[in-house]
Amino acid sequence: MFNLKKYLSQKQAIIDKMLDEIINHNPSSLSSRIVSAMNHSIMAGGKRLRPILCISACEVVGGSEEKCLTTACAIEMIHTYSLIHDDLPAMDNDDLRRGKPTCHIAFDEATAILSGDALLTLGFQVLSQKSNDLPEEDVVKRLDIIHQIAVAAGYKGMIAGQMLDILSEGKKLELEELKQLHLAKTGALIEASIYSGAVLGGGTESQISKLLEYGQNIGLAFQVTDDILNIEGDSDLMGKSVGTDYNRDKSTYPALIGIAASKQFAATLIDSAVKALEVFDMEAEPLRAIARYVIERKK
Ligand code: IPE
Ligand code: IPE
Ligand code: MG
Ligand code: MG
Repeated sequence: MFNLKKYLSQKQAIIDKMLDEIINHNPSSLSSRIVSAMNHSIMAGGKRLRPILCISACEVVGGSEEKCLTTACAIEMIHTYSLIHDDLPAMDNDDLRRGKPTCHIAFDEATAILSGDALLTLGFQVLSQKSNDLPEEDVVKRLDIIHQIAVAAGYKGMIAGQMLDILSEGKKLELEELKQLHLAKTGALIEASIYSGAVLGGGTESQISKLLEYGQNIGLAFQVTDDILNIEGDSDLMGKSVGTDYNRDKSTYPALIGIAASKQFAATLIDSAVKALEVFDMEAEPLRAIARYVIERKK
């Protein structure tokens, strides 16, 4: 039987090693404080869900891990930047992240802003890195995924979601508006992670479209579960504070439809995600198990 726990920890170790190599090779005395802050946040041990999805999507279409490892790491850098900025006093004002003081608490606000900027920029630096032995066909693919990741992380994707999230504090959104907020804030980068892996792995158009359907469903379910865990979760396990959405009067699924209906909704999304994988055989077991994990996780 497929062992998800083992699978996740193996992938996490590979991703952590590569992140360390990228960030810490060739240290410069010019940037030691910023590198310390980047390491503080990125090496604090996140779940690495987005890079793992990138690799799993690459492998499900027959690609190898090496094909997409740096891309997967670049996506984790972009994600970590978004967390550092999300925690700032001007945004969610949180002081705990990944079991450690948030970047602006451990360092200061200026350093947190700059280390977020640095991780975002480094992500795109890594994505666009020239490699001499890359065939022409792969260069075209790489340009395409850089574009898609930029769109997902940008003003019509994650940033749009973050803006709506802030604007919706203290307001009651329509369910459809909240869905669009969550799809932008969290879904877009998760979908882009899967898209990138699938493209680099050589997936066909129809495989990629099924994987995107999977990604959209788990992306939304992931944020609905994040909302639920903010109420029911264990702060020690999650490494971040709970009850904060309520305190800030955030627009969340539990606030709008209640916890039971939110769980039901997330479960329905996961059913749809798994259904989208029907075109695949046993090679999609990791993606199926990750889908279930998205709603069953405790952190
Ligand atoms: C937290 O993301 C922010 C959301 C989009 C919900 P994760 O739950 O993936 O956080 P890490 O990377 O494991 O710390
Ligand atoms: C964070 O969303 C989403 C992004 C950083 C894009 P939340 O604010 O809901 O996530 P947590 O609960 O702080 O991790
Ligand atoms: Mg937030
Ligand atoms: Mg937050």
